[in-house]
Amino acid sequence: MNDNKVHILDHPLLQHKLTILRDERTGVKEFREIVAEVATLECYEATRDLPLEDIEVKTPVATGTFKHLAGKKLAIVPILRAGLGMVDGILNLIPSAKVGHIGLYRDPETLAPVEYYCKMPSDISERDVIVLDPMLATGGSAVAAIQFLKNYGCHNIKLMNVLAAPEGIRAVREAHPDVDIYVAGVDEGLNDHGYIVPGLGDAGDRIFGTK
Ligand code: PRP
Ligand code: URA
Repeated sequence: MNDNKVHILDHPLLQHKLTILRDERTGVKEFREIVAEVATLECYEATRDLPLEDIEVKTPVATGTFKHLAGKKLAIVPILRAGLGMVDGILNLIPSAKVGHIGLYRDPETLAPVEYYCKMPSDISERDVIVLDPMLATGGSAVAAIQFLKNYGCHNIKLMNVLAAPEGIRAVREAHPDVDIYVAGVDEGLNDHGYIVPGLGDAGDRIFGTK
């Protein structure tokens, strides 16, 4: 089994945008736009290992052999709701990716993930998958979503978050040692309600303006 890697993407643009997301004064429009921008920037790193092939191209000056994406099949799977905020940011770079959806919410008492929706592309087992969720807190939601995809036959899965707690990273690494994690920041830990501290609050509420 591979040992997964945690890619902490500390590019200055990502750090700057993450600080805007943290600020409680940031309104819903800006928050939503920046979550999508962070996803685009993270996608650049998460797709660094995409295979290339050579193709011949005739430029206005000469013919040459150049690199071209080898057409690997990709899918992105946002964890509803908050993961939806990252979808457009990824599709900006990979417009042909298919999109599966998995609905999970955390039980407010137990913090355990509860599944309420699932719709995957029919060929999901043949695709490389990037799971999207802005927040990796206890890790319960991500661990369940990844297990769900493995049950569907997926075997090349990456996890992309905006912000993580060490507890969530540990949980994913233990449950799914083959899954690489891409994240823009790792905070101190969790409070008694399972919120990341200092964090950015409830990502779903801030993206959709529900609080
Ligand atoms: C949030 C977040 C993650 C989950 C992270 O979802 O979007 O899915 O919590 O927490 P965990 O790592 O402890 O599982 P929430 O349950 O608030 O649902 P929402 O996206 O519908 O707001
Ligand atoms: N879910 C959120 O949206 N925020 C947190 O800090 C933890 C879980």
